[in-house]
Amino acid sequence: MADIKKIAVIGAGTMGTGITQVAAASGFEVILNDVDDKFLQRALKIMDKSLSKLQEKGRLKEDKDTVLGRIKTTTELGDAKDADFVVEAVFESFEAKKEVLAKLDKLLPPEVILTSNTSSISITKLAALTERPNKFMGMHFMNPVPLMKLVELIKGIATSQETFDQVKAMAEKMGKVPVEANDYPGFIANRILIPMINEAVYTLMEGVGTVDAIDQVMKLGMNHPMGPLALADLIGLDVCLFIIEVLYDGFKDPKYRPCPLLRKMVDAGYLGRKTGKGFYDYST
Ligand code: CAA
Repeated sequence: MADIKKIAVIGAGTMGTGITQVAAASGFEVILNDVDDKFLQRALKIMDKSLSKLQEKGRLKEDKDTVLGRIKTTTELGDAKDADFVVEAVFESFEAKKEVLAKLDKLLPPEVILTSNTSSISITKLAALTERPNKFMGMHFMNPVPLMKLVELIKGIATSQETFDQVKAMAEKMGKVPVEANDYPGFIANRILIPMINEAVYTLMEGVGTVDAIDQVMKLGMNHPMGPLALADLIGLDVCLFIIEVLYDGFKDPKYRPCPLLRKMVDAGYLGRKTGKGFYDYST
């Protein structure tokens, strides 16, 4: 543990950006990689804004610029070669992860632990793409990463206990509360959350309630911080659809059938906050 100083985060989307920020704020040097500099610039902007907010509220141990100073961005995956610990957070597609993990596995010294922030793809299947399945694990952060306490830790079939213990210690060093889940579709978080969101979309499709009514019921009746449709917009409707499909394929159980309205919205490009439109409008 003492020798983990530098972390590489691969993918500067919502999750990769949040993980980078939290790792840097916890004292780690971070190399953030993505294929296009525009994603890296967007990530730096988002982190600047989030760190300013946290600093204003006295929730940052150090100055914002000290934290940002620990982050290096790069479009070269090869720059991850010096990292002591890696979190893969490219978008949720098996093919995309396959390509990146194979490259990382060749690049990194054999003792380096490789983790994936996948929200639902089998850790065992991802680990099998590498020559280090014993040093591979799921490290599933929650969105928005700077605010959410949980990190779900998932061992693949071949993950060693030593790897698990080190990843758990890393999550704690990043100020998170690690919880172990077994490697089955959706793990714990999305096995429970995504069917609820899918059911909320069915409730809307069948006219049982309006968008506002559905979200109000869950907020005021169940004390959820946000309604399931607003949460779907935050997560991304494409990600929600992907995960419910993983559950449906993985269990072959009709209770996980994706709601046609969810699919229709994804087909239309209404993906939630990131596209300015989902169940709510974010264009203004
Ligand atoms: N960094 C710093 N500050 C942030 C922030 C960020 N990334 N995001 C929000 N904030 C701040 C806001 O600016 C706001 O500050 P002010 O009060 O000073 O204005 C404060 O946090 C509260 O935010 P909001 O007023 O917008 O709303 P809120 O009180 O409802 O809190 C929330 C926001 C923390 C997101 C809360 O609604 C919540 O916990 N929602 C549920 C989130 C959730 O379920 N996440 C898990 C998603 S599932 C997942 O990630 C896994 C997967 O694989 C799909």
